[in-house]
Amino acid sequence: MKRTFSFVWILALLGLGSCNHSAESKIDRRVETLLAEMTLDEKIGQLNLVDSGDLEELVRTGKSGALFNVVDPARVNRLQRIAVEESRLGIPLLFGRDVIHGFHTLFPIPLGQAATFDPQLVEQGARVAAVEASAAGVRWTFSPMLDIARDPRWGRIAEGYGEDPCLTAVMGAAMVRGYQGGDLRNPTSLAACIKHFAGYGAAEGGRDYNTTKIPARELRNFYLPPFEAAVRAGAATVMTSFNEIDGVPSTGNPELLHEILREEWQFDGMVVSDWNSLGEMVAHGFAADKRDAARKAILAGTEIDMMTFGYSGHLRELVESGEVPESVVDDAVRHVLRLKFRLGLFENPYVDEGLSARTSYAPEHLATAKRCALESAILLKNDGALPLSRVRNLLVTGPLADAAHDQNGTWSFDADPGHTVTPLTALRRVEGLHISYVPGLKYSRDRSSAEFAHVTAAARRADAVVVFLGEEAILSGEAHSLSDLHLAGAQSGLLAAARAGGKPVIAVVMAGRPLTIERDLANCDALLYLFHPGTTGGEAIADLLTGRAVPGGKTPVTFPRTAGQIPMYYNHNNTGRPAVGNEILLDEIPLRAGQTSPGCTSFYLDSGWEPLFPFGYGLSYTTFAYGAPRCDRETYGPEETIVVECTLSNTGRCAGTEVVQLYVQDLTGSIARPVKELKGFERVTLDAGESRTVTFRLPVEELAFHGFDLTRRVEPGRFRFWVAGDSASGTPAEFEVR
Ligand code: GLC
Repeated sequence: MKRTFSFVWILALLGLGSCNHSAESKIDRRVETLLAEMTLDEKIGQLNLVDSGDLEELVRTGKSGALFNVVDPARVNRLQRIAVEESRLGIPLLFGRDVIHGFHTLFPIPLGQAATFDPQLVEQGARVAAVEASAAGVRWTFSPMLDIARDPRWGRIAEGYGEDPCLTAVMGAAMVRGYQGGDLRNPTSLAACIKHFAGYGAAEGGRDYNTTKIPARELRNFYLPPFEAAVRAGAATVMTSFNEIDGVPSTGNPELLHEILREEWQFDGMVVSDWNSLGEMVAHGFAADKRDAARKAILAGTEIDMMTFGYSGHLRELVESGEVPESVVDDAVRHVLRLKFRLGLFENPYVDEGLSARTSYAPEHLATAKRCALESAILLKNDGALPLSRVRNLLVTGPLADAAHDQNGTWSFDADPGHTVTPLTALRRVEGLHISYVPGLKYSRDRSSAEFAHVTAAARRADAVVVFLGEEAILSGEAHSLSDLHLAGAQSGLLAAARAGGKPVIAVVMAGRPLTIERDLANCDALLYLFHPGTTGGEAIADLLTGRAVPGGKTPVTFPRTAGQIPMYYNHNNTGRPAVGNEILLDEIPLRAGQTSPGCTSFYLDSGWEPLFPFGYGLSYTTFAYGAPRCDRETYGPEETIVVECTLSNTGRCAGTEVVQLYVQDLTGSIARPVKELKGFERVTLDAGESRTVTFRLPVEELAFHGFDLTRRVEPGRFRFWVAGDSASGTPAEFEVR
């Protein structure tokens, strides 16, 4: 069945997120009955999320209604029994955890999942994570992260779905559906928590927690759509972000948390702060002290305080002084209680303590994870060295060849690396392949060249060499920003040493972000890139290298040539002086050139104006050809749907899967518009020689944007569109909206 994902299509369909009406009314009645019995202290206790301190005492005295980072089912039950059987009202606890790309069975990090362009598979992965995490007593995950990220210096680019609002929206909605399942009361459901609301990925300089300066239109047209899609998908909770937008920290921002989230989007779930983000408003200079921060946060709409103890310390006096109406506290508690009722915690508060051991790493979980790892792999270069067909003696080298912990990537603390299959282990299992292994470097930051001569000599004796490079897990993720994106340590030197052996060299990079690998491309015949692929990554890589599987992943984020090019992303504005192609680069500039030499356009003398690899790019072991795209009419009304068709052909020697992408450009607007915007994509599998017509149905409504007056509307005029295998290629065609 053809499935085409366009953003509004997802939005329209996902209005199913809310529970059915009668069950909701029953829950609302139970919430009101319970709320009426609660003291102010008990209400405030429900707004306090902690993971440390005397948890038993905090729970027994009703000073905390939610805990996180407790993942031992026996301890979960002990704490839950105190809440349910020893506190005055017996309100069950909510247990949260960062289940970001799997719980025990690890999928690729979210950036890798985005590279699959396969939302159904990503949804299945989230479902596996929910089954494993809920078996340990977790019922709330601080995921998916929906921060648009255009800057690979930012370590948390690893945790999101890249630079594009459409792809991030589709993946975010899929994760919400996977986590929450069809019914939150199902004991295997996890309440999703979409984060970090909002704009966290725009940190200046890619330096985590830094200021973000996001203009209102940019916020609306790029950063908010994934969150809106996830709210439409029924996301149960939202987490505020650490950053301030134009001076206003999100945790104290009523425009975000009331006007947009509650009034415009009609979100009826619960809002939680990030870790001490309430208290950090003092450091921001937005609050005078913790009491002031608590006042601003609760009035802005932040309902649960994670680890500031601002509400437990100051909310009673703020209510008694009249600075915070008790009705505001009541509204927050309502959202917390409603979530607990929706999750069925009042009827079913305990977990089967033997379930987790029976559930985790189930064969079907590992199989789903492997499919995801396979589809996440991006073939960036192949001069014919892949797949390894006539190779019998293979040299394996590099710091990521046998590094289970690092292959798992960031946010993987519940996984057991003992279950992770590394590429070295998997390749050693391949029939008829003799593996020799020389580590070359001990870890990704290792600067020693002591083993390089050994690697070169071993390469001479082999038929081919695979060099496993990349990043240790700790080099990406939260608070791990980099200003230099080259392969760390002496990895580039190791690749050159392997190259010196004179045999075909394949580089496999596993990292948490796009790295600047231009200089390394010269030293390999093929390069396969995976964003930390998780538990089954080694098996997937072995299948891809030997041709048992065919790569088809696409870049969910632009790969810059140098860190100096950043920010560089595909959906940029054209500027008044776009590069035209005759620019003279550094080495071509004549001596004593005149000031007005040609090329007064927007480019870099030393690195041009194009990235190393564009958004949406990835090769296969076969090749694909695109016919000219066509639409069913010349002109469309605002309520109509554009039907775009394009013929795709597999012109190579083996079957393969292509991610066919639909891009649209609004040629003229009340504000300057991006040169391209992804508006749909579809995975198409074709046998060698097969052709197929791919059809996209794009509602004109999806061309709406927040224009000069910030109103969201479709503006009449001419549009250009492409159907292609990446954001930098394809033949354009046009249509008009009247
Ligand atoms: C962290 C992260 C957030 C995470 C939370 C709880 O600082 O910013 O994404 O969910 O704290 O661990």
